[in-house]
Amino acid sequence: MKQRDLLYEGKAKSVYRTEKRGRLIVRFRDDITAFDGGKKDVVKDKGRYNAHVSSFFFQYLEKHGIKTHFISLLDSHTMVVRELAMIPLEMIVRNVAAGSIVRNYPFSEGAKLDPPVMVIDYKDDSRHDPMLNDDLILALRILTLAELRKVKAISLRVNSLLFDLLAEQGITLVDFKMEFGRQGKAIYLGDEISMDSMRLWDAATGESLDKDVYRFDKGDVMSTYHRVADRITGQKP
Ligand code: C5P
Repeated sequence: MKQRDLLYEGKAKSVYRTEKRGRLIVRFRDDITAFDGGKKDVVKDKGRYNAHVSSFFFQYLEKHGIKTHFISLLDSHTMVVRELAMIPLEMIVRNVAAGSIVRNYPFSEGAKLDPPVMVIDYKDDSRHDPMLNDDLILALRILTLAELRKVKAISLRVNSLLFDLLAEQGITLVDFKMEFGRQGKAIYLGDEISMDSMRLWDAATGESLDKDVYRFDKGDVMSTYHRVADRITGQKP
């Protein structure tokens, strides 16, 4: 697979066309950002670790019947994926209260959310990703009602698969974000699932094992990413 024109450059990934129709290359860069891009750095090896963990999760999910955009890992920073028309939603599933729902609602940090709470944000940096509800999603014609039901059901299934998988490694999946896209009528899980898009806590100590280490200067982000990636995947990238 050969890398051709740059199609899109996000905050931490670049997406390229390839010589093959319907196949894109996603390159995980070492850029790390937080707070709507208000905090930015370059962290050596971050791209490699996120590509490694993301491809591990996508393959695990595929084995369990979830359609994902993942095709293969081209090199340690780079995935070959199915080209999708991305749906501008951030599907966030929360198992434990932390982050923005503790800031915005009267939850205590660490409170268990059972059943999990799903929050859907509109992916639009210029509007600071405002929260949506079902009526808004339908009125904006982002999804049909049947698609919305389907995307929610897949999101909850992914949450339950990853929650159990991580629990086996002594890690609590506090919350995480997913993005979906369409190819024809089919809906696939896209983007990435990595320490950048999840909140992970050590089940025994409560230590943060994710981007909160960077957001809130809790320690050395790369040493955390190394440790958690090894723990999740059982292997080095
Ligand atoms: O900030 P908030 O608490 O709403 O984030 C919930 C979860 O979604 C966190 O795991 C965070 O890393 C992830 N997220 C993300 N990208 C965003 C917003 C949230 O990956 N734009």
